Amino acid sequence: MAPVRWLHFLLSLVALLPVSRAQSCWRNTTCSGPRGTAFPGPWESNIYAPSSRTVSPRRILSIASPNKTADYEESIPYALHMDEAMVVFDFGVEVGGIVTVNYTTTGPGAIGMAFSEAKNWIGQSSDSSNGAFKGPDGALYANFTKAGHGAFVMPDHKLRGGFRYMTVFLISDGPTCVHIENISLEIAFQPTWSNLRAYQGYFNSSDKLLNRIWYSGAYTLQTNAVPVDTGRQVPMVEEGWANNGTLGPGDTILVDGAKRDRAVWPGDMGIAAPSVFVSTGDLESVKNALQVMYNTQASNGAFDESGPPLSQKNSDTYHMWSMVGTFNYVLFTNDTEFLLKNWDKYQKAMDFVYGKVDNSSGLLNVTGTRDWARWQQGFNNTQAQMILYHTLKTGSRLAKWAEDTKALSGRWEHQAEDLRRAINEHCWDEEYGAFKDNATETSLHPQDANSMALLYGVVGKDRADRISETLTQNWTPIGAVAPELPENISPFISSFEVQGHLNARQPERALDLIRRSWGWYLRNPNGTESTVIEGYLRNGTFGYRSDRGYMYDESYVSHAHGWSAGPTSALTNYILGLTVTSPVGLTWKIAPQFGDLKSAEGGFMTSLGKFSVSWEKKLEHYTLHFVVPQGTRGNLTLPYIRSGEEPSITIDGNDIYRGVYYIDDTATVTVSGGGAHKVVVR
Ligand SMILES: *[C@@H]1O[C@H](CO)[C@@H](O)[C@H](O)[C@H]1NC(C)=O
Ligand SMILES: *[C@@H]1O[C@H](CO)[C@@H](O)[C@H](O)[C@H]1NC(C)=O
Ligand SMILES: *[C@@H]1O[C@H](CO)[C@@H](O)[C@H](O)[C@H]1NC(C)=O
Ligand SMILES: *[C@@H]1O[C@H](CO)[C@@H](O)[C@H](O)[C@H]1NC(C)=O
Ligand SMILES: *[C@@H]1O[C@H](CO)[C@@H](O)[C@H](O)[C@H]1NC(C)=O
Ligand SMILES: *[C@@H]1O[C@H](CO)[C@@H](O)[C@H](O)[C@H]1NC(C)=O
Ligand SMILES: *[C@@H]1O[C@H](CO)[C@@H](O)[C@H](O)[C@H]1NC(C)=O
Ligand SMILES: *[C@@H]1O[C@H](CO)[C@@H](O)[C@H](O)[C@H]1NC(C)=O
Ligand SMILES: *[C@@H]1O[C@H](CO)[C@@H](O)[C@H](O)[C@H]1NC(C)=O
Ligand SMILES: *[C@@H]1O[C@H](CO)[C@@H](O)[C@H](O)[C@H]1NC(C)=O
Ligand SMILES: *[C@@H]1O[C@H](CO)[C@@H](O)[C@H](O)[C@H]1NC(C)=O
Ligand SMILES: *[C@@H]1O[C@H](CO)[C@@H](O)[C@H](O)[C@H]1NC(C)=O
Repeated sequence: MAPVRWLHFLLSLVALLPVSRAQSCWRNTTCSGPRGTAFPGPWESNIYAPSSRTVSPRRILSIASPNKTADYEESIPYALHMDEAMVVFDFGVEVGGIVTVNYTTTGPGAIGMAFSEAKNWIGQSSDSSNGAFKGPDGALYANFTKAGHGAFVMPDHKLRGGFRYMTVFLISDGPTCVHIENISLEIAFQPTWSNLRAYQGYFNSSDKLLNRIWYSGAYTLQTNAVPVDTGRQVPMVEEGWANNGTLGPGDTILVDGAKRDRAVWPGDMGIAAPSVFVSTGDLESVKNALQVMYNTQASNGAFDESGPPLSQKNSDTYHMWSMVGTFNYVLFTNDTEFLLKNWDKYQKAMDFVYGKVDNSSGLLNVTGTRDWARWQQGFNNTQAQMILYHTLKTGSRLAKWAEDTKALSGRWEHQAEDLRRAINEHCWDEEYGAFKDNATETSLHPQDANSMALLYGVVGKDRADRISETLTQNWTPIGAVAPELPENISPFISSFEVQGHLNARQPERALDLIRRSWGWYLRNPNGTESTVIEGYLRNGTFGYRSDRGYMYDESYVSHAHGWSAGPTSALTNYILGLTVTSPVGLTWKIAPQFGDLKSAEGGFMTSLGKFSVSWEKKLEHYTLHFVVPQGTRGNLTLPYIRSGEEPSITIDGNDIYRGVYYIDDTATVTVSGGGAHKVVVR
């Protein structure tokens, strides 16, 4: 090659370098996450995740000083002289990780740094997270003795897992002035992804608020997928905070919340894991969270209520959630290696919990009484019966996938049927039209058990219609108050309620509740405007559980809690109507419900390939397009366009009238072979 051509060649290599260089992941973790989004399109503008793993504040929220009392807004650049007492930086969305502050000082002193998820707790002390309940977390300090440049890097164990606002304040006896030159945050969550926006699922509809809610659930789950050595320290530190606990195997693990507890909680995953599947697709974090529960199982078969180092014990419901989680994970991944590795332990777990069923009533006698936050738990509590029913039903399917030869599948299916009869006989309140809190005379009709009865199919159509109706008696303009946790609104339990109404084919009710509850939070200027909250009170304050007046201060509430991400899976699975019914979607179901929407589209990935659906509803007909991988098979369940009137259906232009199954204003057709198809229903 001639020298000039060599030069061109070398230059072209240099020009390529920045493009081909992969963005790095968190610290030393392998970048095993996806590189790019599976479904590129305009809906990606709804993704809250930043495009870089290193971010800076988007704006200054306010400056408070003795001489300048009024707050004002100022845009970037945010460099400022610290003769003012305190400046509040706003990252614009929930973030979390390691903060670096570069500054220049004119003399000795210190700057303090404090963090908050909600606007309400902005100040010189961070919101509360350490779990010792001795007050809020306080501040970090960068101390300096003389004039010059400085850089403060947050120590690893002081990683702040979830915040939107960062307050910086000056402490000095003299006339020191500090110039804040730069603030940057190295994001720690979703540690194996180089591109935080590389979602493997999407959702888009004619309702902008619902779209934002879907993405706020997805982003919350990203902030809850954390490096395995950044769990909350146990025993809890009483001053400040420490996030250096070891959580489990692998590089990334799904915890309950970004700020706290930063621990694995299998019950939370009952909502979180299905929403991960339809959105980010990060099932690696789900797998590691489940594996740690198997790794710490007690010799009698009991799972802990939470993962290490927290390792709470004594919860029959959360024990069962680890089992349900196993089913969900294998359904989404077909990871039979994981299933077989843990199968003996799963059976032991089933024996442990089923051994508590009382022969005379046929009901579970709950003796491990810790639970999600409901006041009462124990004896023949109805919610626990619903979870056991679902555990047995899903266990029966898992036994088949594990190719179990001990006839477990049939046995568990039988036991589920016996339990369903017992629940309907002992726990139902015919006069009220819903389940009681347990099999005694009580006037409490809980949100959790009744929502799960709808979702898990414990009742026939008549009872389902009544439950769906009576559940609305708990509603307020900003969400459903849970009778079993009075005064509190739980988007966790409401996530079951939303799916319950949808399973009972009440889409208007489900969308109404999503808009009231999640819509209220996402539009609340005091919140993160990007994530889903752990819980709140009937009067619209954020103090979930603080009304009980013992340990919780209002700022302890987590504003990025995956257990509240239910609308994300609900909108995909029921409104769009797309679900997998056997591992990775070898069989699937498409059963849209329109509610008041004009259109919806979305999809997700499995190891078989892409699944996607889009529908558009007009007055006299609707059109539905779908794409499913080759070699798969599924049912289309199509709502009637006019109630009571069998519709005419075409698929790819062909009239469909044979093999259609009509029930409850829906027509079901089986479609084999995969590919892209167009359905018109009039
Ligand atoms: C990366 O790993 C090496 C070896 O395990 C360790 O010495 C180093 O501190 C790690 N770096 C970071 C930034 O964690
Ligand atoms: C406030 O204003 C007074 C009078 O102008 C001035 O002497 C003082 O230094 C100012 N204080 C601060 C903190 O800027
Ligand atoms: C801030 O300080 C860090 C740590 O010393 C340094 O790596 C970084 O380059 C500095 N950034 C700026 C913008 O000065
Ligand atoms: C740094 O400054 C803060 C605030 O004045 C003070 O409480 C703390 O003790 C100082 N830390 C050190 C190591 O000097
Ligand atoms: C985490 O940090 C705390 C506070 O510095 C310390 O007491 C504890 O031993 C550390 N824990 C681990 C697991 O490193
Ligand atoms: C699921 O995994 C099993 C065992 O690895 C395999 O035989 C089967 O083909 C897989 N199913 C699908 C749908 O990928
Ligand atoms: C349920 O468990 C409690 C606590 O162990 C026990 O006192 C009670 O007798 C049990 N009830 C039944 C029906 O087995
Ligand atoms: C039944 O439920 C009610 C309402 O939660 C509760 O007050 C009562 O203690 C429960 N009874 C038993 C035996 O669990
Ligand atoms: C439910 O548990 C309570 C408390 O142990 C008991 O009094 C009641 O008889 C039980 N109900 C049934 C149907 O077993
Ligand atoms: C936000 O918080 C402020 C201060 O606590 C309060 O006055 C205001 O009503 C809150 N806004 C909403 C929408 O809750
Ligand atoms: C909201 O309700 C809680 C208890 O239910 C109460 O402690 C709190 O003061 C109330 N806050 C407002 C602003 O009404
Ligand atoms: C379609 O629905 C029918 C009736 O519920 C069921 O028996 C069949 O297995 C379903 N087919 C597929 C492919 O899921």
